[in-house]
Amino acid sequence: MDKLQITGKAILTGSISVSGSKNAALPIMIASLLSENGLYLKNLPALQDILTMKKLLENFGIKIKKINSQTFFDSTNINNSLADYDLVRKMRASILLLGPLIARFKKAKISLPGGCAIGTRPIDIHLNGLEKLGVKFSIENGFVSADVKKNLTGAHIKLSFPSVGATENIMMAASKAKGETIIENAAREPEIEDLAKCLNKMGAKIAGAGTTKIIIEGVKKLSKSEHTIMSDRIVAGTYVIAAVMLNSEFIIKKIKPDLLSTPLEVLQNMGAKLEIGNDSIKVLPSSGIKGIALKTKPYPGFPTDLQAQIMALMSVAKGNSQIKEMIFENRFMHVSELNRLGARIKTKKDVAYIEGGRSLKGAKVMASDLRASVSLVLAGLYAEGKTTINRLYHLDRGYEKIEETLGKCGPIITRLK
Ligand code: EPZ
Repeated sequence: MDKLQITGKAILTGSISVSGSKNAALPIMIASLLSENGLYLKNLPALQDILTMKKLLENFGIKIKKINSQTFFDSTNINNSLADYDLVRKMRASILLLGPLIARFKKAKISLPGGCAIGTRPIDIHLNGLEKLGVKFSIENGFVSADVKKNLTGAHIKLSFPSVGATENIMMAASKAKGETIIENAAREPEIEDLAKCLNKMGAKIAGAGTTKIIIEGVKKLSKSEHTIMSDRIVAGTYVIAAVMLNSEFIIKKIKPDLLSTPLEVLQNMGAKLEIGNDSIKVLPSSGIKGIALKTKPYPGFPTDLQAQIMALMSVAKGNSQIKEMIFENRFMHVSELNRLGARIKTKKDVAYIEGGRSLKGAKVMASDLRASVSLVLAGLYAEGKTTINRLYHLDRGYEKIEETLGKCGPIITRLK
């Protein structure tokens, strides 16, 4: 099992260009199942989750081939086979197969994705919404089976919580339902807008993606088109926080700053010096960072996917901070590992209390989930001495070869087999 060794008191120099968004790419790759004759995608990130999703889609008969800078997902001959547990359990996004498979074949059978480190990850909002479109579900032996008697028919659906995945699943199924579907209290994440843009290029009729009310006019057929995946706002935000924490002058390129308006505002309120460009963010040396209190919220609030990263910064800020995690019930797995590096963080239910002004010292730590592992990288870069991070597969799911990306910007960071 790979490990990452980081030699601390590092700084970042130069710049990085942000890769394509994992959380936009995964649903958009799945949307290729809706096309009668394929989908061309550009700017797919080179991540473990993308490879896993490719394997999953090949399992349904999708043929995938690289043609110059594009990847062609050929969906002309797909079958409605079973999505096997081993692939599904590795990646929660597999539940998004439900919408397209039901729209294409009027039935589907998927292994229940199960929980993960950050929570039980239920799918009730997905199933309730799809039932309104006419789907009948049964759950047995760890599988969810879906069946549509006649046709998927448009409906007025009000989500009990603005779930990102449920919004995407229902939007994909509704794109081929008979009539109009309205999704109220829809999630507003930019990745949903990117998915809608791609579906509309394929012939769908979706309006309002990115707002709380999405209107979908069902169509008979979706077909071949090409789409460039948007940049990853969470990876971009991670590197902004890293540069602020390491008091470095550093530029994050290929990112629309307005996708990160709340995190950038929070960082500036903490004292970070940022120059906001059209599609870049320049961090200037920002000493004297102060602690702050924040809550994670659905977009456009502070993203839960940056919670672990800003917690690492808060540990070395002047003064105390606190974070209320409002999205997932167990997203503080990084706290004990950050404390091993010298942080002093206590948690009580969904609130973490972070003591500021800590000096961090390198240690052996354990990654637990994707974003927790990158907060350990940030802390390791800041800490005095060597930090070794185990269970690197968590990190590889969401960050492209981080030792190379960061290695090019100064830090001594090596992958140990
Ligand atoms: C997406 O997960 C992202 N994953 C997550 O990123 C992200 O943290 C999350 O949205 C919130 O922004 C992808 O896009 C692949 P949700 P998703 O449905 O769709 C509860 C990362 O690090 N809920 O918005 O699963 C759920 O338990 C990952 O890249 C239900 O109760 O998130 C959670 O508490 C981690 N019932 C909350 O809603 C449901 O049917 C938000 O979940 C669905 C969700």
